[in-house]
Amino acid sequence: MSTVTINGRVETLPDDPEALLVDVIRDQMNLTGTKLVCGAGVCGACTVLLDGVPVVSCLMPAKAVAGRTVTTVEGIGGTKLHPIQRAFMALDALQCGFCTPGFVVEAVAFHDGWRKAKGAAVPSREEIGAALSGHLCRCGAYDNILHAVAEACSGRFDGDETVPPRLEARDKVTGSAKYTVDIHHDGQLEGLIVRSHIAHGRIVELDLAPARAMPGVMAVISLLGDDSTVRYVGEPIAAIAAKDHKAARDAAAAIGIKCKPLPSVVGLDAARKPGAALVFEKSSRKKAGNVSEGSPAPAPWKQNVRGPSGAFSHKASKVRSAIAAAAETHDPLLVEGVFRTAGQSHSCLEPHVTVARFDGDRLTLHVSTQAVFHLMELIAKRYKLSHDKVRVIADHVGGGFGSKGSLGLDTIAAIELAREARAPVRIALDRHEEQCVTGHRPATEISIALLPSREGRLKALSLTAYSDNGAAINSTIAALARLIYPAEAKQLTDFDVISNLPPGAPFRGPGGPPMAFALEQAVDEAALRMQVDPISLRKRWDTDPNRQRLYDWAAGLEVWRIAKGATAQSGRYRRPVIK
Ligand code: FES
Repeated sequence: MSTVTINGRVETLPDDPEALLVDVIRDQMNLTGTKLVCGAGVCGACTVLLDGVPVVSCLMPAKAVAGRTVTTVEGIGGTKLHPIQRAFMALDALQCGFCTPGFVVEAVAFHDGWRKAKGAAVPSREEIGAALSGHLCRCGAYDNILHAVAEACSGRFDGDETVPPRLEARDKVTGSAKYTVDIHHDGQLEGLIVRSHIAHGRIVELDLAPARAMPGVMAVISLLGDDSTVRYVGEPIAAIAAKDHKAARDAAAAIGIKCKPLPSVVGLDAARKPGAALVFEKSSRKKAGNVSEGSPAPAPWKQNVRGPSGAFSHKASKVRSAIAAAAETHDPLLVEGVFRTAGQSHSCLEPHVTVARFDGDRLTLHVSTQAVFHLMELIAKRYKLSHDKVRVIADHVGGGFGSKGSLGLDTIAAIELAREARAPVRIALDRHEEQCVTGHRPATEISIALLPSREGRLKALSLTAYSDNGAAINSTIAALARLIYPAEAKQLTDFDVISNLPPGAPFRGPGGPPMAFALEQAVDEAALRMQVDPISLRKRWDTDPNRQRLYDWAAGLEVWRIAKGATAQSGRYRRPVIK
């Protein structure tokens, strides 16, 4: 029998030769400050000290730590916190906090080594960056993290704790903050979702009985819709609750699925082609997901293209005629272009996760959600429960970025499995699921035409956006250009392109970044052709008082003042001369 000392406590290691240190720490010892994110030694969230040296516990075989000493974030500091923890709190070096324990553990090792060798000298940003290079912060708190480590090394936080700007900072730097993925009730089961392996098909037979008969399996349910059709790889088909993940995985393999493949189409270009395979029949269009935060307004469908929706255009015919005339006369001020942006994954460090538990007719849900009350209302309505019978809790959320605002099938599955199994059930998506099927910012193709007048006014602006939504609708991209650069006439047109990709989801300012990317490129190009300063042109065309202040601030920046102009051919930022 081998043992390890973790935070001063001697712990027996499991006999399983495949057991990992992170599982011993989290599951056996309930030290949930150590987070499991990538499971591949890339993100640093599971970092612990092994005999004082930082290691990633997700790659460390448990048997390799026999006879050694492990320190997790809970073992750092004690009642008087470590200077690194105090600096992180005081300088707000965290947001969602899911990456924070890993950063703290690594930074403590760096700090202690640095102070021993260099006293109160302040390490450079590069030295700190190199020490923390194995850590990812999805929220982007890097600047404050680097600052906090430098200040701690200088000795500024050797004294007493100060009141942090963030209420929950102490819980996050000590690892005591409980996220949904850390919740564990007595008798809790592990849930798993069985997903489609094909992009489009009809499930003609779904045999759950073999899975129900497997050892350790407590509930198996179908998640298929009434048309028994899957429209993307990863679409949920069934769900299992079992005593542990291994039992659930074994049961998943036993489910009998017979599927009739249907023609599929993937991506913006293929889905728009005449004769492309149809993703949603007219009768099933309501099953499409929603890439925006609001409800979809009615819009026409033609095959896999939904739109146009151009509700925010004004004087659209004037735009068309002015641009056509300018093109006809080869007006050098007419800026035209087609811009493409790639899809982006939310990549929340805490996965989409739900823990569902019934106590009689009361349902308690821990959900990693951005919309606690909204979710409670949706669940109460779906299951015909009064509001006081449903409680949704999200004490801490390890990142959402827009992807955790609606009621997902993973939450529905956890509820229904818990009801069937009569036991609490957790469904936590793994990293592969998190990256593939929890939504994304759709890729786009945006055509733009921008025409300044001879007097330098913005005469006409046209944006047409096609959004590569996957199995979803309701993109708003071009329409957002109504909020900036008042023009004499605007034509803003949005189209959804639907294909057999996982559905997109709202993502920080849905539609805004691709729209701004295309529009600002065109404004830069217009400034170049008009031979005016690009910031001055924005100040002239955009009358919003807040952005006027932003333009003044940008114009005063050193980096802007010393810039060599839009046609610079040397230095860090260069641009080709457009003839
Ligand atoms: Fe770093 Fe959220 S604070 S991932």
